[in-house]
Amino acid sequence: MSTNDNINDLESVLFNEDEINSRLDELSECISKQYGKSKLTIVSIMNGSLMLTAGLISRLRIAFDLRCLNVESYYGETKSKGDVFINSKKMPDLSGRSVLIVDDIFDTGKTLKEVIKRINSECNPLEVSCFTLLKKKKQRQVNIAPDFVGFEVEDSFLVGYGLDYQGRYRNLSVIGNLKKEVIANPST
Ligand code: IMP
Ligand code: MG
Repeated sequence: MSTNDNINDLESVLFNEDEINSRLDELSECISKQYGKSKLTIVSIMNGSLMLTAGLISRLRIAFDLRCLNVESYYGETKSKGDVFINSKKMPDLSGRSVLIVDDIFDTGKTLKEVIKRINSECNPLEVSCFTLLKKKKQRQVNIAPDFVGFEVEDSFLVGYGLDYQGRYRNLSVIGNLKKEVIANPST
């Protein structure tokens, strides 16, 4: 496992690099099979799915087009406040395309719900599916769920492999929980 300068801020590691990589091998195989005959556009939700998108697309064996959407979901310390902003005035034209939305984690589901709504109402896609690396086990108010999920996790705040705490820890090659004292006293 490679090390990162801030890995010492983790209380525990839930998924190490090998576990993430082998799950991505499986899921990218599955996605390559499912979309082999489609006109696929991957819509990557930035910034959280940066690492995941790179990991996924480098494994795909099929043709696809890539679009990125910059989406902010407002977080208090470590909980979603439920407001979702898509920072894109003009959405892409996805006429006749099969769309796979890629995001880091499915928490309240409000981000994916909003992105699906905007894509369906403004982009004219043929079909829309979603892939998240993580899905928290919890009750939700939304009536959608990702079609492809890397790992189901307990409902706790996670960082690494794209997931951040106040902008940090996205570069960790593992996924884990932060130490409580780091959340109480974040360093710069
Ligand atoms: P949702 O809209 O509540 O499903 O949350 C979506 C966004 O919140 C994700 O794309 C993440 O950026 C962020 N998020 C949710 N849970 C976590 C977490 O445990 N750690 C870091 N970011 C999170
Ligand atoms: Mg995100």
